[in-house]
Amino acid sequence: MSKFIVVEGSEGVGKSTQIKTIKSFLEEYKIEYIVTREPGGTSFGESIRSIILDQNNDTDNLTDSLLFYASRYENYNKVILPALKNGKTVICDRFHYSTLVYQGIVGDDELVKKIHNIFDAIFSKSIDHIIYLYTDPEESLKRISRRSITDKFESRGLEYLNKLNKAYESIFSDMENVIKLNTSRDKEITKKNLLEKLKTIFTTHD
Ligand SMILES: Nc1ncnc2c1ncn2[C@@H]1O[C@H](COP(=O)(O)OP(=O)(O)OP(=O)(O)O)[C@@H](O)[C@H]1O
Ligand SMILES: [Mg+2]
Repeated sequence: MSKFIVVEGSEGVGKSTQIKTIKSFLEEYKIEYIVTREPGGTSFGESIRSIILDQNNDTDNLTDSLLFYASRYENYNKVILPALKNGKTVICDRFHYSTLVYQGIVGDDELVKKIHNIFDAIFSKSIDHIIYLYTDPEESLKRISRRSITDKFESRGLEYLNKLNKAYESIFSDMENVIKLNTSRDKEITKKNLLEKLKTIFTTHD
């Protein structure tokens, strides 16, 4: 049966890297899938992505959230739901939890938190699993410092990464469908742990 899997976590924790692990697993098991990312997924969404992540745009947290939601809603209706309906597994690189963490909790914006609750009532019905990757902020910073191009969230420094980590912990610590993986060590160790979890997800029938 098709599954909707969201991969979440702070900057440079290894989401994009470990999505490759998920892809290779699904290919090996001949499970049809699509991978989509936030913000993005549709060409409209990719245009919005470039506006939000632009270092020169000093936009309000609520403005960013509304743009994220505009992109997300298109992606959800036009890409994610049709894929699930056609029996495909959907892997999404970040979803609405990122907005709650970045703009709602760390950005300290009550309206963003309210918007989260409204959309969470819709989205959480279709999300099967959240793969939550984390590492300590020092390691995140080391990894993103190696990048030649950084976006507006990546360039905010260690204190910001600390806040992101705390916010992620606060939202995921009591959720049942969260699979938490520490990516502080070597990529291959994370890969092995992730593959074990994926086997459980795809061989346990509910
Ligand atoms: N255990 C690990 N798992 C995943 N990536 C790792 C691990 N150890 C080191 N890395 C490295 O950390 C970096 C993580 O980058 P990656 O782009 O995958 O993170 P990300 O979570 O997708 O970041 P962003 O939030 O900016 O999209 C890569 O250079 C990757 O090779
Ligand atoms: Mg990434």
